[in-house]
Amino acid sequence: MCGIVGYLGNQEAAEILVDGLKKLEYRGYDSAGIAVYDGENSKILRSVGKLSELAKLVDTNQPVGVVGIGHTRWATHGKPCLDNAHPHSDCTGKFVVVHNGIIENYLHLREELIEEGHKFISETDTEVLAHLLEKFYDGDLVKAVQKTVATIKGAYAFLAFTEHEPDRLVAVREDSPLVVGLGEGEQFIASDIPAILKHTNRVYILNDGEMVDLSRDAVKLMTVKGEPVKREILTVDWNPEMAEKSGFEHFMLKEIHEQPEALRRFLTGRLNEKGVHLEELNFTVEELRKYSKIFVVACGTAYHSGLVGKYVIEQLVRIPVEVDIASEFRYRSPLIDKSTLVIVVSQSGETADTLAALREAQGRGARVVAFTNVVGSTIAREADQVLYLRVGPEIAVASTKAYTAMLMAFYIFALYLGQIRETLGSEDLAKAVSAIKEIPAQIEKIIVNNEEPIKQFAERFTQFEDAFFIGRGVDYAVAMEGSLKLKEISYIHAEAYAAGELKHGTLALIIEGTPVIALATQKSIYEKVLSNIQEVRAREAWVTAVALEGDEEIKKSADHVLYIPDTLELFTSILAIISLQLLAYYASKLRGCDVDQPRNLAKSVTVE
Ligand code: AGP
Repeated sequence: MCGIVGYLGNQEAAEILVDGLKKLEYRGYDSAGIAVYDGENSKILRSVGKLSELAKLVDTNQPVGVVGIGHTRWATHGKPCLDNAHPHSDCTGKFVVVHNGIIENYLHLREELIEEGHKFISETDTEVLAHLLEKFYDGDLVKAVQKTVATIKGAYAFLAFTEHEPDRLVAVREDSPLVVGLGEGEQFIASDIPAILKHTNRVYILNDGEMVDLSRDAVKLMTVKGEPVKREILTVDWNPEMAEKSGFEHFMLKEIHEQPEALRRFLTGRLNEKGVHLEELNFTVEELRKYSKIFVVACGTAYHSGLVGKYVIEQLVRIPVEVDIASEFRYRSPLIDKSTLVIVVSQSGETADTLAALREAQGRGARVVAFTNVVGSTIAREADQVLYLRVGPEIAVASTKAYTAMLMAFYIFALYLGQIRETLGSEDLAKAVSAIKEIPAQIEKIIVNNEEPIKQFAERFTQFEDAFFIGRGVDYAVAMEGSLKLKEISYIHAEAYAAGELKHGTLALIIEGTPVIALATQKSIYEKVLSNIQEVRAREAWVTAVALEGDEEIKKSADHVLYIPDTLELFTSILAIISLQLLAYYASKLRGCDVDQPRNLAKSVTVE
């Protein structure tokens, strides 16, 4: 999705803008640009492709000025090209805008503006904003923005500058995130916190229907109708290094390695001698006892965490759990009411389908708990209750540390429910809590033991175009995540199957040398999985197994074994996925793919 950055202060703006845009690369983009006001004119520089192209342009042109706006564009209206890259300006060149999201009525507005004599250069919906500002401006940019907002329809955020008032930036948010960073004699604005974290950790998060009027020494928050808004300053406790690569070649590898620390942070204060302690959730005991059904709704990796969550909650709490893909849930008239608890899961907290599902569930009377990573995100703000993942910024498009934190969220939420609904005895609870406390160190051990061997045999993956992941029970849910990880970053076609289902069709695809990754971590169904592995071995598949330490039997059926430490059967998922993340990473790297920004994908999917 697109990224916005703005700066107003006393430093050279160009460098701050390009640097901020780099921190937003994870959102996905196909072109980029900045506009810097030099005291007389706004110099606009735009490029197609990677930000390094824009950085080169900045080096050559050396734009001078202490106020500016910048943007990374992920095309929605009009192809990725120079004319369509932001910033866009009006006929006079005196108004410049950058914009995220979609202006739904832009075609109609564009025709009207053309009739009135405005000249358009791009195919974008964004350009109407610049012309509307030109049309409505009567000496006050805030008023022109308000009139523009009253004219447009859609889901968007935009940031505007005019040479008529060069000491001012004005931005508005409607369904697309914006964060204001507060400095001393300087102000920042961006789509996400990492873009400004280097300069300040004091921020305001804008809500839908709000705008901000920035000058060097003042930040005025208001509704789009002009009513003043009071907001507490949020102090972000991420340090700038947390948003950088810290010496790793890619963000994904760094984020895989960060998992033990991230999970320790997740657990801090949430476990005590009595069990699970979730202060941030303010359910009453009566409320938690009344729920007769749980829905988990999410997309992609977050959805896969829900598939594991279903096993865990159903086993520990004995409540039926349905897991839905958010884009399906919202259109299928789901059977939910006040006795249903809905859990939405989203790393970014901005995924459009998940947000719509949340609203759908609330509209039908259900209470919604969000498991999310981003404080102040739309999902966090709209959910009735929030359990934060606390993993710090996840930059790589492929989700890793957020996924394991989502799994952890399901584990402890299930224990929390089991505690309150008394489906869990104190002994079982104590066992589960002690198993959970071991997990961060067990992940450290897996990375130390398995990374090198995975690097070696990932080499062989460079030759394949297809791979299969199989497992039963919780292992099947993990197989789905392992398969998604491999395909999204290495572009190897991968499928996950319930191991027992292979012989009902898919086995026909298994021939000599076909890579099969078999998960065999579930003791209660171990023999069954072993038989399924034999089925693919008999067709001369190349088998890599993920199994529990001490399992010597598996060596007879697999070409490679990636061991994980033993834990409770319900919690193996969080350990088993680590090797699959590493496998996907090294396969992608060795195939020469863009690991952190795979083709066609974006980190935060804020359109339907
Ligand atoms: C993860 O590797 C994917 N890139 C993707 O499936 C992601 O999990 C999905 O888009 C949901 O994102 P969210 O967690 O931010 O809602």
